[in-house]
Amino acid sequence: MENIFNPIKSRFKEPLIKNMCEYNELMDKFKGDYEGTWASFADEKIDWFKKYDTILDESNAPFYKWFTGGQMNVAHQCVDRHLDTKKNKAAIIFEGDNGDQQILTYRELAYEVNKTANMFKNKFDVKKGDRVVVYMPMIPEAAVVMLACAKIGAIHSIVFGGFSAEALRDRIIDAEAKLVVTADGAFRKGKPYMLKPVVDKALEEGCECVSKVCIVERNGEDIEWVAGRDYSYNELVKTESSVCAAEPMDSEDPLFLLYTSGSTGKPKGVQHSSAGYILWAQMTMEWVFDIQDNDTYWCTADIGWITGHTYIVYGPLAAGATTVMFEGVPTFPDAGRCWRMVEEYKINQFYTAPTAIRLLHKTGAHEPSKYDLSSLRILGTVGEPIDPPAWKWYYEEVGGSQCSIVDTYWQTETGGHMISPLPAATPIKPACATFPLPGIMAEIIEEDGTPVEIGEKGFMCVTKPWPSMIRTIWNDGERFKKSYFGDCKKDGQPVYFTGDGAMMSEDGYITITGRTDDVINVSGHRMGTAEVEAAVKKHDNVASVAVVGKPHEIKGEGIFAYVVLKSVPSNHNDQTADEFEVMKEINNIIKTEIGAIALCDDIAFVPDLPKTRSGKIMRRILRSIVKGEAITQDTSTLEDPSIVGKIEEIVNR
Ligand code: WT7
Repeated sequence: MENIFNPIKSRFKEPLIKNMCEYNELMDKFKGDYEGTWASFADEKIDWFKKYDTILDESNAPFYKWFTGGQMNVAHQCVDRHLDTKKNKAAIIFEGDNGDQQILTYRELAYEVNKTANMFKNKFDVKKGDRVVVYMPMIPEAAVVMLACAKIGAIHSIVFGGFSAEALRDRIIDAEAKLVVTADGAFRKGKPYMLKPVVDKALEEGCECVSKVCIVERNGEDIEWVAGRDYSYNELVKTESSVCAAEPMDSEDPLFLLYTSGSTGKPKGVQHSSAGYILWAQMTMEWVFDIQDNDTYWCTADIGWITGHTYIVYGPLAAGATTVMFEGVPTFPDAGRCWRMVEEYKINQFYTAPTAIRLLHKTGAHEPSKYDLSSLRILGTVGEPIDPPAWKWYYEEVGGSQCSIVDTYWQTETGGHMISPLPAATPIKPACATFPLPGIMAEIIEEDGTPVEIGEKGFMCVTKPWPSMIRTIWNDGERFKKSYFGDCKKDGQPVYFTGDGAMMSEDGYITITGRTDDVINVSGHRMGTAEVEAAVKKHDNVASVAVVGKPHEIKGEGIFAYVVLKSVPSNHNDQTADEFEVMKEINNIIKTEIGAIALCDDIAFVPDLPKTRSGKIMRRILRSIVKGEAITQDTSTLEDPSIVGKIEEIVNR
């Protein structure tokens, strides 16, 4: 008998969905009147400037449109509309790496957002629809900058601070950004690190679209200033007015772009809408995190990822909650940092990634017991499947067996949660995303739409458009269609395919089994193998390369590269030392091209890759080898079947 964990009802006061009956009723309501039910939520939740005329426009599928004709503004939804009832409530609680604390009330946040919005308009000539690239650390100004863009209708594109100058440059150029907002740097593990020099390097080439750089001061370290291009945020914002009217935005006006990895080619600029996105950000915040007025909510993600967008900034603020922003890392100065913060701020919802849970478990298994964690009601995980041992530790040691764990399955493209337990309602199975949220028509099917048998693996699809879904890939509608609507059909119509496999148990529980494409998941971060391969190929001595994910104790998956060198290193007596040198060089290239998050954990130097006669690399074999699985694939079609044994020997030696 599997373990089932029922919600501890005494921890919940007034959850919006109280039990599975209510869940089923709501799901049935959506099934009975899909559009009408979405409309009733849009009416209830969004403070419309002008009501929409059409709920869902499917005329140009799969470029779906929601709530067309309506006007609203996301910054108004997240900040201004709360001022009547919550002006003195903490909106953002910031804790710096060094322990600095800062609290912004909703009124203060409104004031900062308005000044920044005015500065963007007056000093940088940013207009509605212009793209602003944001390369910033986890400081309150990052949220202010996002909301200031939303206030005036500029489209932000945040680039994670761990990406390299090259990666930043690619994104700036693709988005044709007008302005880059950055900081001198920030603090990490007690030491300053720099961001501005990376921007300088990115702008050295091909970024003619960018005319100005706006720099927030955080660590106070010396930086170079380019006259006429670089401006101090802190200086300019001072003189701006704290009054700024919200730009009326059409429901479908883009709110932001966020670049993410695909299975092929360069990262794609996932484009999200205004109304549909914020509606679902707010609804899932209320349903999945049971946000109540006096709660303090903490998500440990970085704003450079979608989790930071939806569940540090937009979702919590749209719901009028108090959101914690943390600059540091969970293990500094020690493995009790997070638990100390939970105790100090009386955190009610704590949301993090399995990789962080595994790290905290490993480095401080008994740390949680040293702190009073009784404020916690909900523990969330996101980014990759959570393994049962990590789940158990999280549930028992962190949650004291009293909290609901919400294993939230979703993607950059989905905008918000898709499959997740409802904390007061869903009986939870460890390491299982459970059921689709109400309104989400998630189905596990075969390519032609046939539902898969219970216990069989199938494609995780969403068979109806939903409001917060990706609208397109910036500047590449064809790639959007091909990437998401090219694989699976239902009733002859293309449906959204997530790229993940999944299976369902007899009682309807969904377990995500992972990507079915060439995307790997490193510490909950998505990495395209093609991107890493392109970087490795830049090494002069690399003839060919194939990158796969290798199970990793903490990261979930690590990056493993099979490399064929053009010429075998000269000194045959000390081959390992030579290979170690090449590995170092390859990793240096990766660091420059992508960033430290894409470094190879391991490289196997092999004489050749398993290729079919037509030259296609059989990656499945390479994946099996690295996992130590028996090779079940037919190797007889390979150009050189003997290569498989040779590679196995090298990997296992
Ligand atoms: C991919 C999306 C969504 C924010 C963070 C990652 C995997 C995500 C889960 C989960 C199993 C998960 C999927 C998905 N994933 N959450 N709860 N259980 N797998 O966003 O970078 O867009 O990556 O992360 O493979 O496709 P992302």
